[in-house]
Amino acid sequence: MKPVLFLTRRIPEPAIKMLEEKFTLKINPYNLALTHQEIIEGIEDAEALICLLTDNIDKEVISAAPKLKVISSYAVGYNNIDVEYATQLGIAVCNTPGVLTETTADLTWALILASCRRISESERFVRNGNFKGWEPMLMLGLDVYEKTLGIIGMGRIGQAVAKRATGFEMRIIYYNDSSLSQTLAFEAREVTLKTLLQEADIITLHLPLTKETFHLISKEEFALMKESAVLINTSRGAVIEEKELIKALKTKRIFAAGLDVYENEPDIPQELLALENVVLLPHIGSASIETRTKMALLAAENAIAVMEGKEPPAKVN
Ligand code: GLV
Ligand code: GLV
Repeated sequence: MKPVLFLTRRIPEPAIKMLEEKFTLKINPYNLALTHQEIIEGIEDAEALICLLTDNIDKEVISAAPKLKVISSYAVGYNNIDVEYATQLGIAVCNTPGVLTETTADLTWALILASCRRISESERFVRNGNFKGWEPMLMLGLDVYEKTLGIIGMGRIGQAVAKRATGFEMRIIYYNDSSLSQTLAFEAREVTLKTLLQEADIITLHLPLTKETFHLISKEEFALMKESAVLINTSRGAVIEEKELIKALKTKRIFAAGLDVYENEPDIPQELLALENVVLLPHIGSASIETRTKMALLAAENAIAVMEGKEPPAKVN
């Protein structure tokens, strides 16, 4: 009999086809995220799990699956998984790095341009019937070209964002908590976090959520930023202390923000929803047709490799 693989949500079909050859698939039949309890019940007889970044794969879930050998997440970020506990039990934890790098960098740029040039606010203005003709002072935003881009976290995605910035003739500064293993393919200056916050016109976050990065950007950090600063987050919401961000936007401590992620997804505070100087997206960094298929195939390859006793393409533990 084929081993059971539990999928907490349907993923693109090419991956399902590949998985069907090796596993008996147990797939969430609903087009809805499963509750914690439903995951605990569903995982019971599984030897492999493919999960989403919204699933809380904690000790309780992992303990509910005595035969589990692999947790393959359909995401690059894995802050939702108790990796330490899985490792203790000899369970492989895998993710989908690399395949979503360029797509996430593209979306980061969509947010940079939208935030600086007030695109969402302008569109609301048009759709609400407020456009009465060209005006000298209508929707004045900020230039992007030749500005200073501050990248916090110069990993794969940070570097892909930086590469695009060279086309805008930007000066690039970055802060990374460890030294980079490769030389950069573009000119960039490494600085302290403090210098970055003080000098950057556009600040963009590309780090994983860990104990160390939780609320990395809070009251003190906002106080260091320029009044014209624009803050972009396509990483994880809790890297920013959201209530301090709301204060900074409300009081015009900074010019604008562009967010794809939130501290308590899917809940977004009413106060944030009410602000004009923030662009809000529904966590779609990797959401292109091509990339979601590549992520699904990589998640499937990871699960299959572990079951066959081979080294999976992307293991985090
Ligand atoms: C998306 O946020 C991911 O981690 O893949
Ligand atoms: C994620 O892919 C990163 O390392 O930036």
